[in-house]
Order: sequence, then C-alpha cells, then structure tokens
Amino acid sequence: MKQYKAYFDANEKLWNAKTDIHIDSAFYDMPSFLDGATSLRKIELEELPDLKDKSLLHLQCHFGQDTLSLERLGARCTAIDLAPKAIEKAISIRDQLGMQSQFICCNVYDTDKHIKSTFDVVYTSYGTIIWLPDLNLWAKQVAQRLSKGGLFYMTEFHPVIFLFDWEKDKIAYNYFNTGEPIMEETQGTYADVDAPIQMKEYFWQHSISDILQSLMDNGMEITMFKEYDYSPYDIFDQCRRRAEQEYIFDHQGMSLPHTFTLKATKK
Ligand SMILES: C[S@@+](CC[C@H](N)C(=O)[O-])C[C@H]1O[C@@H](n2cnc3c(N)ncnc32)[C@H](O)[C@@H]1O
Repeated sequence: MKQYKAYFDANEKLWNAKTDIHIDSAFYDMPSFLDGATSLRKIELEELPDLKDKSLLHLQCHFGQDTLSLERLGARCTAIDLAPKAIEKAISIRDQLGMQSQFICCNVYDTDKHIKSTFDVVYTSYGTIIWLPDLNLWAKQVAQRLSKGGLFYMTEFHPVIFLFDWEKDKIAYNYFNTGEPIMEETQGTYADVDAPIQMKEYFWQHSISDILQSLMDNGMEITMFKEYDYSPYDIFDQCRRRAEQEYIFDHQGMSLPHTFTLKATKK
C-alpha cells in the first residue's frame, strides 16, 4: 500500500475537514440523532438480521452515527476510520450518550494491525469503497475479521451511478478500475454543497464483478445481492425525490441502479 500513501494522506486531511462541516450539517441532523433517532436508512434496517448481542465491526464509520445506531439495535460495536477528527468526534458523541462502542483510528488496510479479534458481523455502508484502490486487499481484511459463519453486510452506491457527469447529462467516468486514482477538487461536500471547502480528493471506481470476486477470492460466500433503483440519500445532482428516502436520477424516464446491497458468509 506504500505506493498509495500520498493519496491516503490527502484523503485523511479531506475527511478531517469534512468532519468539521458534517457534524453541524442539516444532513447529519445531530440534534435528532442525540434525541434517539437512527441514522440508518430503511434499506439496511429492513435487510439486517437481529443484531442483539452480536459483535460487529464497522469499517469506515465516519464520526460514528451509524455505529451508534447499530449499538442502539443491540450490537456490540467496534468501528474504524482513517480520519482522526472523525474518530475524536465519534468518541465524544459516544461519551455524551453514555454508550459503549469502541472507535479506532486506522486505515482499513491496517485493520489487522489494530484489531486481532473476530466478529459475528462486519458492516460497511454508503461511500466507502471508492476511497480504496485495491478491493482484494480490502476483502482480505473483511474476511480476516469474521468468525467462521460470520456475516459481511454492505450497502453502497452502485458503480453505474458514478459514471455520469450530472451537469452535462453524459457518461464521463470509466466503469472499470484503471488502477489510477481519479482526482477531483470540487467545492462543498455532499452534506453541504455551499460549505467553504475545496480540497483535492482521490478515489477509485470499482465494477460489480471486482466487488463480488474480491470477496469470493477471500473465502466469502455471497448469499444476497440486490440492486435498488434509488439512492436513500439526496446527494446526487439532478435527482428528484420519489418517496421517503428515495431519490432518483430521472434520465429520460429510464430506471438506473443507484444502490446495491450484499450479504456474504465467511466459509
Ligand atoms: C462517506 S464516509 C462513510 C459514510 C457513512 N456511511 C456515513 O454516512 O457516516 C467515508 C469514510 O471513509 C473514511 N475513509 C476513507 N478512506 C479510508 C481508508 N483508507 N481507511 C479507513 N477509512 C477511510 C473517511 O474518513 C470517511 O469517514
């Protein structure tokens, strides 16, 4: 992973800065969360099994709202994230709420250096794998941290939806990972488009076959794969609200995959 260090360093700075903005954003609605509202979407709430007393590892937890929401469902959570600011905030929110989740600051590729135990569930959601250059090494970390028979659950934006230049209504990105990062320097963030932030970010596109194959190559059996024709978040330009937690890019009336979910079991 040494060859990616400069990109990880840039992304760490980016996510530290985004954390400061996100924590006070309407998007993350901290007052409702502190009052007991879940930050989880209806997609994962419907698909997740009963988490009561399950040990759960959350990869790329940002500042921990989803982790603490999973704890509210009964899971015993450990969560990791690259950005020290995000982990600092997650710990302070946990302490404010008197909750138990453990938060560790590390690169997902170094998870095995920081965590030695195995879990009943490994969880990751929305906007995670685009920050990772190599899915085989990611899937290895996932599999290593699962107990035999343990569940990997993932809910993520569909790679097809990342192909478009929304403004110009055309395909502008590769579907397959070229190995090279895509660099962008846009203003604002998905949670606050007017925020005074403009920093370089480096990300990678991953095809569906790369995602599934990386897991299968690391001893995981895929037991569920679903595609949804909407995003549960209003984060893409040119999208319209169709229903509660359903935002769609209405491309000439055609349906497009916006989100996918999968379950895989450690063999
Ligand atoms: C879009 S957020 C996760 C979204 C989460 N579902 C939420 O809404 O809070 C992506 C997270 O991935 C983290 N991240 C990016 N690259 C990472 C890496 N290489 N290792 C660990 N975490 C990483 C970022 O710091 C950020 O907190």
